[in-house]
Amino acid sequence: MSEFRIAPSILSADFASLGEEVALVIEAGADVVHFDVMDNHYVPNLTIGPLVCQAIRPCTKAPIDVHLMVRPVDALVPMFARAGADIISFHPEASEHVDRTLALIREQGCRAGLVLNPATPLAVLDHVMDRLDLILVMSVNPGFGGQAFIPEALRKAQAIRRRIDAHTAAGGAPIWLEIDGGVKVDNIRAVAEAGVDTFVAGSAIFGARDPDGGYRGVINALRQELAGAGGSRRAA
Ligand code: DX5
Ligand code: ZN
Repeated sequence: MSEFRIAPSILSADFASLGEEVALVIEAGADVVHFDVMDNHYVPNLTIGPLVCQAIRPCTKAPIDVHLMVRPVDALVPMFARAGADIISFHPEASEHVDRTLALIREQGCRAGLVLNPATPLAVLDHVMDRLDLILVMSVNPGFGGQAFIPEALRKAQAIRRRIDAHTAAGGAPIWLEIDGGVKVDNIRAVAEAGVDTFVAGSAIFGARDPDGGYRGVINALRQELAGAGGSRRAA
């Protein structure tokens, strides 16, 4: 088992053969399927919903990590839970009652995450650490794949890592620290050194098919960079 988790964002996969893409990328060594849900209200783009989650569920045993970029949030939580989601995360700006939404996700049997946009301060985490299984740092503004990594996200990840470590040191349950946006072979190592343990990558993975149609080459290259990451703690 790797100490780091790679979570391909299927937003950049070939939607005409999504089930096969999911199976291929997990077979190539990825750990988690990152599933981007956009509603054309919270973000200016429209993607996929619970029906597609349900359709790909039989294609892999890997956890499906549903990233909700939608407003409002709550009605979709039970729908994605029924569709086989393992993790559901949302943006605090999109929910009227963040604590209630976090509780709802767990009540539905899923792990719960909060997503911080590039300009969202860490204060949203202050009173909900016990409700969280995952914190997702956006290193782009949400809405599209293929955007450039915002370097400030590294400092933010470091600050969140300190909070998570303090939380677990005080007896709190483990919390994954995930990053999303512009992650590639040439920056994943710096991201790991900032304390991130779970790495979303969309265009970097699905834009780099091997000659045989698989994704082993790029996943191995990402893992090799991660193996060289030093100086930081490793994922639980
Ligand atoms: C952006 C999405 C990301 C996106 C990442 O709003 O949340 O998951 O697919 O794509 P890349 O890795 O291409 O930046
Ligand atoms: Zn995402």
